[in-house]
Amino acid sequence: MPQVDVEMRDNSVNFLRTKLSVRSQDVHSPVTFSVIISMHAFADLLQSPLEAMADSVKISVNHTNFYYGSNQALYDVSMQIRPQFVTALIGPSGCGKSTFLRSLNRMNDLIPGARLEGKVELDGENIYSDDMDVIHLRRRVGMIFQRSNPFPMSIYDNVAYGVRVNGLAKRRLQLDEIVEKTLTAAALWDEVKDRLSRSALSLSGGQQQRLCIARALAVEPEVILMDEPASALDPISTAKIEELIYNLKRNYTIIVVTHNMQQAARVSDETGFFLTGRLVEFNETKKIFTAPVNRETEDYITGRFG
Ligand SMILES: Nc1ncnc2c1ncn2[C@@H]1O[C@H](COP(=O)(O)OP(=O)(O)OP(=O)(O)O)[C@@H](O)[C@H]1O
Ligand SMILES: [Mg+2]
Repeated sequence: MPQVDVEMRDNSVNFLRTKLSVRSQDVHSPVTFSVIISMHAFADLLQSPLEAMADSVKISVNHTNFYYGSNQALYDVSMQIRPQFVTALIGPSGCGKSTFLRSLNRMNDLIPGARLEGKVELDGENIYSDDMDVIHLRRRVGMIFQRSNPFPMSIYDNVAYGVRVNGLAKRRLQLDEIVEKTLTAAALWDEVKDRLSRSALSLSGGQQQRLCIARALAVEPEVILMDEPASALDPISTAKIEELIYNLKRNYTIIVVTHNMQQAARVSDETGFFLTGRLVEFNETKKIFTAPVNRETEDYITGRFG
């Protein structure tokens, strides 16, 4: 931590107290106070949050190959996924998008004969190491599927499910707060607040998908994987999911597979184009959609094939 000289004149002390929200009774000694000031000054010396994010990596995929038995589905795929970005994955059917997505929280482990070579790191930690707690990993890296899959229980219990299973809520009141907070974050609270005890299956398709997003958010993931989350929905529900994705990225890292080019262009910051198991191009979304480097990417986004 850098040394910061601070002139501790009364007015600057008061100003800094206000800025740091430090109550005067919390400042027991000049030493404590100067440590707090140093930390704050250090934070100020850092790049702005957005600049810092563009340089940092949440998930790092390095030279991965993926096999279903003897069939190879991914070839030497590398990708650096930025925190609090939306990353879109596009490409024709069967090119490996879902396989890649599932490899990011070891969902593929559940498929007999499935095998990954290479390295996938979450915050620098190899998620395929033997001592990785896979249940904990899937809590940190949640998943939303193409077809919403609410549990046959009440709206409330769907959202509370993971919180209860993981013992994350201390008491009922806190659980109520978590349910309200996550349903609000999933843009569903206003539509369901008066019928939380009704079956989740009584909701519309679009509402069910937002409920599944709320259920995923309730266990406080860091990354959310979405596999064609809006492809079974009408245009209005699709627009709501897109708006939701856009708003959620402030707090989460989102990776979304989509067949809808407009959707990828609207919601994502970076886009990867897959073709027959290879990541052909990965770049800022606006570059992919305005000036793709690769001919195959251009053909795909302009609808010449796929
Ligand atoms: N469970 C599985 N067992 C064996 N092979 C599989 C399995 N899932 C996918 N594959 C194969 O892996 C390849 C990539 O499939 P994947 O589902 O990842 O493609 P995708 O890009 O998501 O396609 P789509 O756009 O149709 O969803 C395909 O050849 C597919 O047949
Ligand atoms: Mg798929």
